[in-house]
Amino acid sequence: MSSKLIAPSVLAADFGNLQRDIEMINSSDADWFHIDIMDGVFVPNISYGMPVLKAITKHATKTIDVHLMIVDPDRYIKSFADLGSDILTVHYEACTHLHRTIQAIKDAGMKAGVALNPHTNINVLEDTINAIDLVLVMSVNPGFGGQSFIENTFNKVKDLKKLIERKNAKTLIEVDGGVTNKNAKQLVDAGADALVAGSYVFKSDNPTSTIKDLKDLVNN
Ligand code: DX5
Ligand code: ZN
Repeated sequence: MSSKLIAPSVLAADFGNLQRDIEMINSSDADWFHIDIMDGVFVPNISYGMPVLKAITKHATKTIDVHLMIVDPDRYIKSFADLGSDILTVHYEACTHLHRTIQAIKDAGMKAGVALNPHTNINVLEDTINAIDLVLVMSVNPGFGGQSFIENTFNKVKDLKKLIERKNAKTLIEVDGGVTNKNAKQLVDAGADALVAGSYVFKSDNPTSTIKDLKDLVNN
């Protein structure tokens, strides 16, 4: 079984000490940098944009996992590729021509991810799953860090895993929102490959050891 991945969400970092927090992730057991881009339209919050991502990628030494919570994401695919994104995830709910968007992300040299809001059933990916590298299952309503985990996510991850296996797809499952040591093991047992953790990591006394403990918990 391949190792389960931990993706700290930079949204919860201290932006006054961004380089320090990036270097902490570099030297930790984390696998990916999770980067939340919010436009204030698709979600009721604005996070950060290109200049901040540029500062992150300048120092980051691990996979850059970008989660776009923006309308009409096709407009920015090339910009995110140029800034060094490795995985670019768009929301199913924000794409009129999802299949075309997935192709455009791959053509730009990145892995293509699709995020599902808590209200969106996994069956909407029945016809595209073989083209998708990663599905990001939202376990909170997107827009803010620090929210409570939605329990229905366990069933959703199990259903998605079944769909992936039935279609013989190679798609990874990532879960985002309210992840802690209380739900992490159950999420990987349900089929998750990667877990995003923001507040749980950065609000802890020792983020490096919190990452290590989470990584050990999901891989044992
Ligand atoms: C929510 C974002 C998440 C967020 C997770 O819209 O997509 O990535 O940063 O933060 P926590 O782990 O605090 O729920
Ligand atoms: Zn996210």
